[in-house]
Amino acid sequence: MNFEWMTPGRIIFGRGSIGRAGRLAVEFGRRILLVRDGGLAADSGPVEAVYAALAGERLEVEEAVVRGEPAVEAVDELVARVRSFEPEAVCGLGGGSAIDAAKAVSALLVNGGEVLDYLEVIGRGRPFSMPGIPVLAIPTTAGTGAEATRNAVLTSRAYKVKASLRGAGLMPRLALVDPALTDSLPPAITASTGLDALTQCLESYLCLKANPATDALALEGMKRASRSLLPAFRGGDVAEARDDMALAALLSGLCLTNAGLGAVHGLAAALGGLFPVPHGAACGLLLPHVLSANIRALAAQSTSHPVLVKCRRLDDILVPECEGLEGVKTVLCIDRLLEMTAKMGIPRLSSYGIKDSDLPALAAAAARTGSIKGNPVVLPEPVLVDILRAAL
Ligand SMILES: [Fe+2]
Repeated sequence: MNFEWMTPGRIIFGRGSIGRAGRLAVEFGRRILLVRDGGLAADSGPVEAVYAALAGERLEVEEAVVRGEPAVEAVDELVARVRSFEPEAVCGLGGGSAIDAAKAVSALLVNGGEVLDYLEVIGRGRPFSMPGIPVLAIPTTAGTGAEATRNAVLTSRAYKVKASLRGAGLMPRLALVDPALTDSLPPAITASTGLDALTQCLESYLCLKANPATDALALEGMKRASRSLLPAFRGGDVAEARDDMALAALLSGLCLTNAGLGAVHGLAAALGGLFPVPHGAACGLLLPHVLSANIRALAAQSTSHPVLVKCRRLDDILVPECEGLEGVKTVLCIDRLLEMTAKMGIPRLSSYGIKDSDLPALAAAAARTGSIKGNPVVLPEPVLVDILRAAL
């Protein structure tokens, strides 16, 4: 058994922990670049809470607003704009987009050049030679786990694909996870981001580079997401469910950065480059069909395949009320995943303008992604087409 273990330098989790942001930031310096998610209004709770915490330490703050998934060109422009401010740390506040933009800016400020020098797939893929300035990641959604990953997903408008900057130096120095910042998330964002966290845990649990440490965290993340995603989606007084989802998201980030993902994320990356499908919604729609295809393909190799043995745990985790029932294993959890997306009203892929004739190109693009290389079994392109068709 060989594995490597990477985490943020420090993780602070808990309700009210946002109040410590100023004291924590000052450990990195006094000039802070705040990369804020454009989906958060300036007078929203999370933004006001961060500014109150930073003001307590009289820090010099420059703000940059990132709208939607960060584009390659937007990151280059942002780096050029903030260079003269000479930030000593970057605080990413928001969903995965803002946190990933913060990581990208941090790395480029130190390493120089432009995004395409370092970007995978469509760029020159050069490694970063130096770590970026410290990143303080403060998630306001419970989904991507970007606070605990060493990559930054960027979108290229020119190439119509998503690709990552990657490197140990992109890992946040501090992940400050205050679940209270997610309390007012609207149901649609709770649903899609939560499905992302659940998918990331499940894919890293089954992926080729899974290890005992990621397995333990992935099972814990799946347990919490499966019991709390629907309550968090329905809203009301659901602090415990929000806490569960924030923790599931954090664990999913640790899992994916230390193990990898699979075919769901390969397909979701292909879809996200060409169509305006929210990443987590795509993951949630595809997950049951990919799981089903994986189980069939693994069983064709051997009914005692070690990954199939792991799959049997999924029913206990995702359908705990049926724990101990024999004979229906791995079917129940697929039904439960289908039921979850239906109950949350996740729109089908066709509602984003995707047609049957688009599927072969999407499958071919998915087959070229890095994520799909972690899938426990090779799924041929015709099978990927069938998976997409099942979610159309
Ligand atoms: Fe994801």
